[in-house]
Amino acid sequence: MTQDCAKLTFPNNQSIELPCIVGSESELAVDVGNLRSQTGTITLDEAYVNTGSAVSKITYLNGEEGILRYRGYPIEELAENSNFLEVSYLLIYGELPSEDRFKQFQYDITMHTMIHEDLKQLYDGFPKDSHPMSILSSMITTLSGYYTDSIDPLNETHRDISILRLLAKTPTIAAYSYKKSIGQPFVYPRNSLDYVANFLNMMFSIPSVDYEVDATVEKALDLLLILHADHEQNCSTSTVRMVGSSRANCYAAIASGVNALWGPLHGGANQAVIEMLKRIHQDGGGVEKFIGKAKDKNSDFRLMGFGHRVYKNFDPRATIIKKSCDEVLEKMGINDPLLDIAKKLEEAALKDDYFIQRKLYPNVDFYSGIIYRAIGIPTEMFTVMFAMGRMPGWLAQWKELIENPTARISRPRQIYSGFTKRSYQKPDKH
Ligand code: CMC
Repeated sequence: MTQDCAKLTFPNNQSIELPCIVGSESELAVDVGNLRSQTGTITLDEAYVNTGSAVSKITYLNGEEGILRYRGYPIEELAENSNFLEVSYLLIYGELPSEDRFKQFQYDITMHTMIHEDLKQLYDGFPKDSHPMSILSSMITTLSGYYTDSIDPLNETHRDISILRLLAKTPTIAAYSYKKSIGQPFVYPRNSLDYVANFLNMMFSIPSVDYEVDATVEKALDLLLILHADHEQNCSTSTVRMVGSSRANCYAAIASGVNALWGPLHGGANQAVIEMLKRIHQDGGGVEKFIGKAKDKNSDFRLMGFGHRVYKNFDPRATIIKKSCDEVLEKMGINDPLLDIAKKLEEAALKDDYFIQRKLYPNVDFYSGIIYRAIGIPTEMFTVMFAMGRMPGWLAQWKELIENPTARISRPRQIYSGFTKRSYQKPDKH
């Protein structure tokens, strides 16, 4: 819905009426799209702290109240009742699937789980200690070279098949990168297994020993993937939309999102949290010293897994993960000292004025790594797990962008602060 709602007046008394967009949850945005053409002025909002970059029907997030909903469904209800593949369908196509549609979707996914045999040779080109995120993004970009006949983003059939391929092949690519790093043979996908069970089988089975997927592990991982599945216009999703807006193919746009996710301030935080907790453990387990370092403006140490650009009260995903963490570790009979340190750290931070004033709370990454550890996922693979979870969100957002008839290429402006015009002079000798 659009309505006139704001008037901007400049010191020279020039003024402009600005329309407002009202969202379905009554969120209000001032539309500044015509500001420059009418007044010569732009808005400046570095790091997009207050800029809406899309009108989207996919995910609703209210950071003040700790609300997260996919297509209207509260994350708590989806976590309790749904599964990752159903949530993926919901995000991408807008509605929960009927039983028949879900079966078809599941079948379509399983028909695309294998990767081209030639792609396997590419793994040999990576040094042994390559980060699996670099392998994942490279492999996803490379997929576009294997499907040159079906990568036109403006073709609906091409879009559909690209979405299925990416959802289906990401677990295979991810598991192969792990197998490569430990020198074990690749395990082919097994279509008789569900999405998550198939991934676990590709990760942990070896040809010489029977492997059975543990139901607790499968459920825990499925839950984590649901919780990561979308989070509206975060850094990686905005990257996917930005790249997609140039009409680069789906694989190129998604690989860009993988790279954006890699950073420690975004998806890379789950790996950084465990590294931080290990460091505290090695240091004797006391948390006060590290709380002090996080508060010290002369130190670049941050409490990883704490704070969020949007959540200023609590992160609903963190609440669900913390509960699941206790349950999973208890069921598996694991006593992880890092969990105790994490709890002590959370307790101390939540009582500390520095964190209270800045509204810094545990985020989704604070406890997820402890579950990944418990179910045997190596630390370097944590951010890859996040990418697997975020895949349906990226795909849904990319599809929404491409299918929007009014979408244009994303092209921010800037305020130039460099030299004004000066003449070229030959450089001095020294
Ligand atoms: N530890 C210590 N201080 C912090 C932290 C932290 N984790 N996070 C923010 N602050 C301080 C920051 O120094 C600043 O203080 P001051 O006002 O005195 O300068 C204030 O809080 C505001 O921080 P900011 O960096 O301006 O906030 P932001 O919205 O730009 O950044 C964030 C959000 C998530 C990048 C940041 O909180 C952070 O670096 N957290 C640690 C990394 C992390 O856990 N990232 C995962 C985010 S959730 C999953 C995802 O989206 O991928």
